Amino acid sequence: MFLVLTLLAMAGCTGRPPEGATGEEIYLQLCSNCHGDDLGGGIGPPLGPGSNSVEQPDEFLEVTILNGRGRMPSFQSSLNNDQLARLIDFIRAEQAE
Ligand code: HEC
Repeated sequence: MFLVLTLLAMAGCTGRPPEGATGEEIYLQLCSNCHGDDLGGGIGPPLGPGSNSVEQPDEFLEVTILNGRGRMPSFQSSLNNDQLARLIDFIRAEQAE
């Protein structure tokens, strides 16, 4: 289990999405391993409709994604500001479904 988490964490840290990737592409590349293709959760908590993060401000998502949280790795070196904004827009749109 620890090895799997380490490998996933490493995959999360090293993958850099293409400059023009959509929020969905970024999510599927960096986040879906742990949070599920449909944001339903897995190793990490759910992020979709009805989840705790719906109630949280954008700053909470930004800080979590940039700095990591608990066993979630930091994505500071994988994302520029535009990509981060597109990723959060995608999550918010999914939450509103
Ligand atoms: C290696 C697995 C992993 C990856 C990859 C990952 N996360 Fe997480 N994420 C977690 C875990 C575990 C937590 C719970 C951390 C804690 O609170 O201790 C978490 C927590 C979160 C939270 C806070 C949820 C809440 O309700 O407290 C958000 C938001 C989040 N992740 C978004 C993302 C996004 C966006 C990505 C892609 C950039 C991502 N995560 C990638 C494992 C991961």
